Amino acid sequence: MKWFKSKYTYVLIVLSLLLSGGLQIVWLQQLFFAQQKQLKEEIEHFVSSTAQTNMYYSITSFENPGNVRQIKQLFLSPQWEQLRRAFDNMKMDNLSSTASITIEDDSTSVSMHFSMKDNVVKRKRRRPVVKNTGKTPEELRISDSLSLVIMKQKVEKGLRKIGITSPLYDNIYVYDSNEVFKSNVPKQLRPDFVSSKYLYNIQNIYRYQLVLPSVDNVVWYRMRYYLASSLLMILLTCTAFYYILRLLRKQQLYADAKADFTSNMTHEFKTPIATVSLALESIKKYNLINNPETLQNYLDISQHELKRLDLMVEKVLNISKGNETEQPLKLELYDVQSGLQQVISSMQLQLMNSHASIQFDASEEPCFVFGDPVHLTNIFYNLIDNAIKYSGNGLAMEICCKCNADHVTISFKDNGPGIDKIYHDNIFERFFRIPTTGDIHDIKGSGLGLHYVKQMIEKHSGTIKIKSETGSGANFIITLPAAS
Ligand SMILES: Nc1ncnc2c1ncn2[C@@H]1O[C@H](COP(=O)(O)OP(=O)(O)OP(=O)(O)O)[C@@H](O)[C@H]1O
Ligand SMILES: [Mg+2]
Repeated sequence: MKWFKSKYTYVLIVLSLLLSGGLQIVWLQQLFFAQQKQLKEEIEHFVSSTAQTNMYYSITSFENPGNVRQIKQLFLSPQWEQLRRAFDNMKMDNLSSTASITIEDDSTSVSMHFSMKDNVVKRKRRRPVVKNTGKTPEELRISDSLSLVIMKQKVEKGLRKIGITSPLYDNIYVYDSNEVFKSNVPKQLRPDFVSSKYLYNIQNIYRYQLVLPSVDNVVWYRMRYYLASSLLMILLTCTAFYYILRLLRKQQLYADAKADFTSNMTHEFKTPIATVSLALESIKKYNLINNPETLQNYLDISQHELKRLDLMVEKVLNISKGNETEQPLKLELYDVQSGLQQVISSMQLQLMNSHASIQFDASEEPCFVFGDPVHLTNIFYNLIDNAIKYSGNGLAMEICCKCNADHVTISFKDNGPGIDKIYHDNIFERFFRIPTTGDIHDIKGSGLGLHYVKQMIEKHSGTIKIKSETGSGANFIITLPAAS
């Protein structure tokens, strides 16, 4: 376990958490950009095909549209879309382009024409001309406006379907000059998406460009499962590390506590052994057989110390094996308040020695439980003994007993050093003693008292809770089922 103590373990864990978190972020970021690109392509394609359909309808609206099936085949084909976009977007110095559609009775001809001048001239772009439409210029203008309205409606409908909820803006460009004719794009807007410019009506004149303030919410929405799984993974990794650390810490504390217990006990055992050895050595050395009075005195001391040693060994063996809690309880009707009074009285000497006082708040009602008097007395003794031991001189303890039809609640509140929250579970474990910075043998103990207390209370179907923080005393609250 030594390796665990090293700070490197924590550093390693923090590093691996940071690394896995960082990798997740990089991965999500890449995914975000890929999804954003894909979405923008989808929108571009959608606007393009909407413009294409619009254009097809504008041709078929002419009086003499020729063979509609063939027109449809040409104008709705992906090749036409590519051709048209290439034509529209072709940019070169000295290049002029013209396109025209001529509608005859028995045929429709489409021509695209590029001319390259040798001399430097301003690039010219002429709008596509549709000849022989059978419509007056005014009718064509109305048809163009209608086309634009339909184009906008279709684009809006389609984008809402994709999930884009932000407002839609557009720029309308003059085909020939490529200047903005109309625009509803706010000046300060930094758009997330700007489409290419599309002819939406073959006859004229203008090109449509879609402007979107943001597409990110749709990208996030599409990535929701990846996001959730990433978060879950990070959360699971953190939780796993947390529990592993907690477990290791617990094991470390348990191992330390066991080692402390052994050294404490060795220390405790050594005193009677040394006393007896000294007594026997003196008997031998000073030939005390001739001095029966002193001999008797030394033998009494030795016997007393051996008895104490025997009792200590017995207690340790029993408790450390958990035997004590395996014995069946000898249940009888037990008056909790008089039991508490008796324990307090029997500890008067101890209380006086350490200048401690106990205030007992008894309930007006008699409080009875079904319990084993020996164990219940031991429980009270242990809790009061701890308060005296750990509070030092000047303990002012409050013991309060309350009862109702179901429960008897006893609280043992002291004004000692208190117990840090991180140890609230540990103190009930076998051998556990709160680590101190100073000499841990300062206050003697085996770390078995509270373990015994908890085991016994649970055997009586009760509970024990602790309310305490460092520096503000400890309050142990026991609840036992009341005897009905
Ligand atoms: N009233 C208290 N105030 C402050 N710390 C306490 C109090 N009661 C218990 N503790 C802490 O909890 C630890 C465990 O107590 P527990 O009674 O189990 O063992 P112990 O008193 O060390 O030994 P034992 O009771 O077996 O002689 C103690 O070592 C002490 O650090
Ligand atoms: Mg104790």
